[in-house]
Amino acid sequence: GVNAMAFWNRRRSIGAMLAPHDGPRLKPTLSWPHLLALGVGAIVGTGILTLIGVGAGLAGPAVLISFGLAGLVCACSALAYAELSTMMPTAGSAYTYSYAVLGEMIAWIVGWSLILEYSLVVSAVAVGWSGYAVGFLTGLGIDLPTVLTAGPHAGGIVNLPAVAIIGVITGLLLLGTKESATLNAILVLIKIAALAVFVAIALPAFKPEHFTPFMPNGFGAPFVQTGVMAAAAIIFFAFYGFDAISTAAEETKKPERDLAIGIVGSMLICTALYLVVAAAAIGARPVATFASSPEPLALILRQMGQGTAAQWIAAAAVVALPTVLLAFLFGQSRIFLGMARDGLLPRRLAKLSSRGVPAVVTV
Ligand code: ALA
Repeated sequence: GVNAMAFWNRRRSIGAMLAPHDGPRLKPTLSWPHLLALGVGAIVGTGILTLIGVGAGLAGPAVLISFGLAGLVCACSALAYAELSTMMPTAGSAYTYSYAVLGEMIAWIVGWSLILEYSLVVSAVAVGWSGYAVGFLTGLGIDLPTVLTAGPHAGGIVNLPAVAIIGVITGLLLLGTKESATLNAILVLIKIAALAVFVAIALPAFKPEHFTPFMPNGFGAPFVQTGVMAAAAIIFFAFYGFDAISTAAEETKKPERDLAIGIVGSMLICTALYLVVAAAAIGARPVATFASSPEPLALILRQMGQGTAAQWIAAAAVVALPTVLLAFLFGQSRIFLGMARDGLLPRRLAKLSSRGVPAVVTV
């Protein structure tokens, strides 16, 4: 009977979730090009700019296999997201799917896990962005003191540029979903253009001998922290974000078509892009020269005597990296909305987050 259904096993039918409710509703304003841009905007970020070095250090040229494996694992998950978000086009994403299938307790855990994941990614990428921005400002002759450019764990007091960029993106989201989505699409094009320029400069210097030995540290095994699998585990971060699109389901005009194209399409685009960039990087310079660099792509260009191009790519990173923040802060506000509408978070939050107010993120 009804009384036997408690917090831990209470479920909601799909019909009940899609039925009109009295909570705030979101307007459908997006279609698949917006979703593709949101997905690629979320995925391509500090991951490809920095982890290509870390990954190559662990796996050698076989980091190409690491990229392929991480992409393959994410693709399985992305297909499941595409299917579920089409069945249940609501703002709650995996939180809502869990509520329908596994019950309220698991849904609560999944919801909070998503909130933590999105907060962590936003913090990490904002700090990564801050690194580029500070370098850029230094290049212009503006020196910020370390106390204002690093958090307490890194020897400063507060990472002011990181806090500021989160504030700016939050303000942008407050303007509205459609407006943010349009600007996002423009920035995504800048980001892809920057990577394309890197490939165009690096490819003519391609040397096949840079690919031997191909797998110097082996494939990897459980608890072994080097090799192809260890690199794949770290590179996984570069693929985060394919799930963020599903939080836009409620704002999508034709969910049954647009969501699948957005989720699966952005995964395919990013996997292909990463493989090409990684192959071009290794082909241009031996792995050992850039493996320990915090900015491997820029380093490779400088070593090739293309300092100006390196600077332009750094500038593009400063301008375009915030699309990752945009997508994840957007997603987080939608998870809040889903949970608050169901009463698992204060209902006041539902009103705020339906207007785009994301969580307060600590950096
Ligand atoms: N995939 C995102 C990035 O690489 C989180 O920055």
